[in-house]
Amino acid sequence: MLTGKKIILGITGSIAAYKTAFLVRSLVKSGAEVRVIATRSALDFVTPLTLSTLSNNPVYSEYLKNEQGEWVNHVEMGLWADLLVIAPATANTLSKMAHGQCDSLLMAVYLSARCEVMFAPAMDLDMYQHPTTRENIQKLISYGNHLIQPGTGPLASGLSGEGRMAEPEDIQGQMEAFFSAKLPLKGKKVVMTAGPTYEAIDPVRFIGNRSTGKMGYALAAELAALGASVKLISGPSALTCPEGVQRQMVESAEEMYEASLSVFAEADLAIFSAAVADFKPAQSAVQKIKKDGQALAIELVPTRDILAEAGKRKKMGQLLVGFALETNNELAHAQDKLKRKNADLIVLNSLQEAGAGFGHDTNAVTLISATEQIKLPLASKQEIAQQIVQYLINRL
Ligand code: CTP
Repeated sequence: MLTGKKIILGITGSIAAYKTAFLVRSLVKSGAEVRVIATRSALDFVTPLTLSTLSNNPVYSEYLKNEQGEWVNHVEMGLWADLLVIAPATANTLSKMAHGQCDSLLMAVYLSARCEVMFAPAMDLDMYQHPTTRENIQKLISYGNHLIQPGTGPLASGLSGEGRMAEPEDIQGQMEAFFSAKLPLKGKKVVMTAGPTYEAIDPVRFIGNRSTGKMGYALAAELAALGASVKLISGPSALTCPEGVQRQMVESAEEMYEASLSVFAEADLAIFSAAVADFKPAQSAVQKIKKDGQALAIELVPTRDILAEAGKRKKMGQLLVGFALETNNELAHAQDKLKRKNADLIVLNSLQEAGAGFGHDTNAVTLISATEQIKLPLASKQEIAQQIVQYLINRL
């Protein structure tokens, strides 16, 4: 969730500063890049060595880096960050922030930052209730800063009440919620199919295909990373479920049909990427079929088409995506499939290109809609998934 996010953590002089060591460690573990700016008094509570070791970056406190006059560029730092979090924020710090008092590196970065700012107050209960503190907090909120509400409990003074800095995991949770609310697919529901289906001949044998599910799983991962709530109905696959994706494993085309269409009505976007068997044995033998030296004929009957049924049920505002694998007249067949199944987009897999298709980590596809054809040249399945999702975001 925080992967690649650039965070400045501003630490000010409160006993709660010791907890920031845990916060820094956890942020870095979650993939964030963390730079720490500590005020002089913060360093009475936690050492620069602890913070620089945990953040893998120098800790900044003063404008000047050394006696040669080399300075810390507070404007560059303010522009670098995706989010500035001031935790703990003392009563004194809140007052300075509310009044634009620029007497430390941290305040200079706060005033120059173009990113959003979160602050986690920490102080004794009476200081927290004081009218000036209340007013400063209100002012900061009115300027667009985000308050991380303090907790209630025992305070360093021996008193008990509101004013304890929120716990590091709560602070991180609010940071994650902040970033996720900004994701382009936040609030969108997606249903997807991926992988092959197995159609039972008898208890040990089946008709299947070579699909591994890689392309569908890459799409599910990308959609979830951009905030969508993804339900992945997967046929047998050795792949692990991508982070944030709700997966339901199924085996046959019939199970996939039931699972997908039972949730299709609520979906904003449906992507049917599974290589669903087009035929299944008319009957699956209860016992293992024994050989008797004679030829064996298995009667096959068509499976129900999930994509075509979804196309019939599709309502205004729902976007429907299918996949196609063709060996000849690729474009014409794919366009025909788009119309026949009432899809909004067909992702046409190329069989002609080396490195594309089943089992490979790369793919090359053409996106076919009623009005356009977009070729996505050979790239990793992850990159292809990113490009398909960007296209869908523009259409949603
Ligand atoms: N599909 C489906 N349910 C089925 C069969 C296919 O949802 N029972 C979906 C696939 O997930 C895919 C698209 O339909 O999105 C593929 O359509 P299909 O007609 O099966 O095409 P191909 O397999 O490419 O080939 P053919 O035209 O020969 O059937």
